[in-house]
Amino acid sequence: MRLRGALSDAGWSARCAGLVVALLASATACGPQDPQEPAPPVDPGVPAPSGGGAGGGGGAQNTDAWSSLPPNLHTDVELAPLGVREATYTRVCERARGDQFAKALCGVGGRPEIADLAGLLALAGLDQQRAFALTGNSTSLVSMSVSAINPRILVFPRVADGAPRPQSMTSVGFVRGEQFVEIVSRDELTDDLNFYLLAFEQPCSYQPNGCDLASLLTEEIEHGWTAYSVYDQDDLERTSFDCLSCHQPGGHGTKRMLRMQELSAPWMHWFPQRFVQRTESDRVLGMQFAEAHQSDAQYGGVPIATIANALDEGSGAQLEALLRAEGFAEQPNPFDAHIAAEMKSGTSATWQSRFDAHLRGEAIAVPFPSIDVTDAALRTAAVQSYLNVVEGGAPRESLLDLRRVFSPDAERKLSFVPQPGADGRTVLQQMCARCHDGRGNPALRKNQFNVLRLAEMPRALKDLAIERIDSETAVMPPKRAGYLPPEAKEAAKSELRK
Ligand code: HEC
Ligand code: HEC
Repeated sequence: MRLRGALSDAGWSARCAGLVVALLASATACGPQDPQEPAPPVDPGVPAPSGGGAGGGGGAQNTDAWSSLPPNLHTDVELAPLGVREATYTRVCERARGDQFAKALCGVGGRPEIADLAGLLALAGLDQQRAFALTGNSTSLVSMSVSAINPRILVFPRVADGAPRPQSMTSVGFVRGEQFVEIVSRDELTDDLNFYLLAFEQPCSYQPNGCDLASLLTEEIEHGWTAYSVYDQDDLERTSFDCLSCHQPGGHGTKRMLRMQELSAPWMHWFPQRFVQRTESDRVLGMQFAEAHQSDAQYGGVPIATIANALDEGSGAQLEALLRAEGFAEQPNPFDAHIAAEMKSGTSATWQSRFDAHLRGEAIAVPFPSIDVTDAALRTAAVQSYLNVVEGGAPRESLLDLRRVFSPDAERKLSFVPQPGADGRTVLQQMCARCHDGRGNPALRKNQFNVLRLAEMPRALKDLAIERIDSETAVMPPKRAGYLPPEAKEAAKSELRK
């Protein structure tokens, strides 16, 4: 396989192969790549190592490993101001949270090396007694990346149907294409959930041109991590990564929750599902996934063979069991079980009423009412290109973006774009309310901008919104949330001029 060959050539496997083991023993670092690499940047605001906190001991050795790396030339623009690497590790660990993930990350061994996705799963305690679920349609932070050929994987503790919740709960979400992993872990002190974003670096992060599609969308992204930065819900609240905008639907200060809108059978977008009667999602989405990924060794840290032979695994059912055990059976604006049956006639009144609530800005986007979010021609071309590169020796530069495969209908129903011809108020409610409906932390400026109360909004704030809709450097909505075609921009701006 061409790509795996290329990886070995780059030397990561030889250099860092010991790291999964080292992770458990928690010390040995992956050595500097090249003594002639440029001097490391000074992390802004790194507290002195004696600063205390749970992450204190043993970190010094690891700090050296990171500081001999070149700077990440492509840190996300919203994460960069929050700091990177050691500064973020120290900040998160000083909060000394009582969840399993924080304890593993910040424990007495010092900062663990996390060399790859499998290493992260092991650190999170998800290398055993785990379940996993793949989804071909997500309404989460990463929805614009997710289809059956580039699914989101969730890995979480295995809970028997109807069993009580496990002692501790950590769950991980990952999709190829973005250099981060989403983590939630239940705090045993507060009994609330803590959310973390672990942003990792790869060797290509230090190249002027950055990481190409092959380093982000093939198995390469799951290996060879060189360093990481970690942020929690409090750090992220002020950014478009804000976990709370979906996981704290009750508003600032209320209890955080796990999300799964399609909580019950038939779990239209989840796979693999092996029951006596095969589900449609398993058949259609499982096949699309297998076509693209059958010759990968793993996807999302789970061996492909395990995914393909997941005989006792019902993805949706297992995630449902976890959510029920954790007390989150009541989801806001849920994707009701009978939508699938109604859709046999081509439309679903139930889905439509859920979607209307979303258009009014009352709830996050609703899962797609059909199984497949892709356009068949775009999907076929993307899968062929993927196979050509990973199996056929085609140049890596030829890889198409596996994320650009949505049908126009799916883009509209998933709220990547507004509805054609929508009036300005509806555009603002649909495309802005998730982050600007007044529920968030009142101390943050973004929460003064409330699209549900346009009538009371000061002129200056409306003008600022018009500017941000047209902005080239800080556009609203942010790129992971969607975009406004020209007619929708005009409609939104004329509403804001009122
Ligand atoms: C746009 C809404 C949205 C945002 C923002 C969001 N999530 Fe989620 N999250 C979801 C939804 C919806 C699911 C259910 C599965 C899916 O649709 O992909 C989910 C699932 C998860 C899961 C699996 C456990 C569960 O709740 O089902 C984890 C872990 C997770 N999210 C972590 C995070 C973290 C960490 C952040 C912030 C960095 C975040 N999420 C931001 C909507 C969101
Ligand atoms: C995914 C979340 C998200 C969505 C969706 C979103 N925004 Fe924002 N918005 C933010 C964040 C985070 C900030 C604060 C950081 C910044 O200014 O970039 C912000 C800031 C703003 C501000 C500046 C507020 C101030 O006083 O500084 C305006 C105005 C704004 N957004 C307008 C909009 C409009 C209009 C839309 C919809 C067309 C929209 N936003 C959609 C996350 C979002």
